[in-house]
Amino acid sequence: MSLYRATVVDVPGDPFSDNPAAALASEQDGGLLVDNAGVIVERGPFAALHAAHPDEPVTDLRGGLLMPGFVDTHVHYPQLRAIGGLGMPLLDWLEQCALPEESRLADPFYADAVAAEFVDGLVSAGTTSALVFGSHFATAMDILFERADRSGLNITAGLVLSDRLLRPDLLSGPERCLAQSQALIERWHGHDRLRYAVTPRFALSSSESIMDVCAELLADDVWFTTHVNENQVEVATVAGLFPDADHYLDTYHRHGLVTSRSVFAHNVHARDDELELLGGLGAWVAHCPTSNAALGSGLFPLARHVQHGVGVALGSDVGAGTGLFIGKEALQAYFLQRLLGPDGYPLTPVHLLYLATRAGAKALGLDDRVGDFTPGKEFDAVLIRPPAGSTLAVNLAHATDTVDALARVFALATPADIEQVWSCGRPLLAG
Ligand code: GUN
Ligand code: ZN
Repeated sequence: MSLYRATVVDVPGDPFSDNPAAALASEQDGGLLVDNAGVIVERGPFAALHAAHPDEPVTDLRGGLLMPGFVDTHVHYPQLRAIGGLGMPLLDWLEQCALPEESRLADPFYADAVAAEFVDGLVSAGTTSALVFGSHFATAMDILFERADRSGLNITAGLVLSDRLLRPDLLSGPERCLAQSQALIERWHGHDRLRYAVTPRFALSSSESIMDVCAELLADDVWFTTHVNENQVEVATVAGLFPDADHYLDTYHRHGLVTSRSVFAHNVHARDDELELLGGLGAWVAHCPTSNAALGSGLFPLARHVQHGVGVALGSDVGAGTGLFIGKEALQAYFLQRLLGPDGYPLTPVHLLYLATRAGAKALGLDDRVGDFTPGKEFDAVLIRPPAGSTLAVNLAHATDTVDALARVFALATPADIEQVWSCGRPLLAG
């Protein structure tokens, strides 16, 4: 076994339903005893754990914050090389920036290079679990799963399905969508840390036949993800394409695609009846604040989601989002709620850590294994320990308590401050 000594901070409770301070667990000089399978056996003050287990080797991680690995609930693998296309709304950005790049993944050599960069990028950003929006090409998905399998990350991903209104090389008919998805599910779903998510791009590019294919695939106990209510022109276009649907979410719901295993990205322009449906069915929303700001998609109504009992986690939405670091998404989520004035939700540092870790683990159904440091869970963690003399190091030295330290981390940290990342006890960054 190993005993890790650090300032330990995590959110085993739910700060949206409990008092935020009560949802937090933290020890200034804490210890985590981890067995050889990478599972946390005991947690508490370091002195007590060390006295009880004097022969276990100690890894000293003091001088930073040890928190659970970040969870990214919405990130596009084929868009890693397309970050930074500013100044366009969603549909123009897709046409001019994202989709031309996605087409390049038809080439397996290109896809493999992007997959390697993507997986390395997640690790470097402290993300240990992700719901990954895949490629339209099945070979590119095999390549991603192979890379993910070797990485130690918890990756849920799927082939992107579309049969209309995108550039023709990204379209597939329902038969091919079904056959290729089934083959990928068979190869990868439940394979070690990998799982499959059925992934229609969005209702705008999916006919009713594609939705039927999705419903058939969901019989396999897999996950579901897509986009909803991101941009007003998109919402109006979908309303025109599905005149019988009650609302945007209904284009998915009437095919049985809204369940507690569904994660919907954005939901900026949600109606109350849609929120009620999401809350009632236990579906989750991936809030993607840097993407929403970069594309000018709108102001995320977090307070209304909370009122309706809709679970919300964070997504980087790379490449519309501005990077893979979930800490930045948390800070942007905080900024936006401040700017909403009386309509904003008052996010505390505890909420931000929850959104970046445990909320994502719950959204992806991984919360029995990762997302907090309760004994019995895996040692899945990120150590934020900034270089000596950096502005973050100076601020951490002046923090009054762990919540204050957490606030300073969310304000200042970047991936350059990540010293190590562990998945199931295994360090992922070269020392
Ligand atoms: N809606 C459909 N496709 C996409 C995409 O790639 N990114 C975003 N942000 N929204 C989408
Ligand atoms: Zn997206």
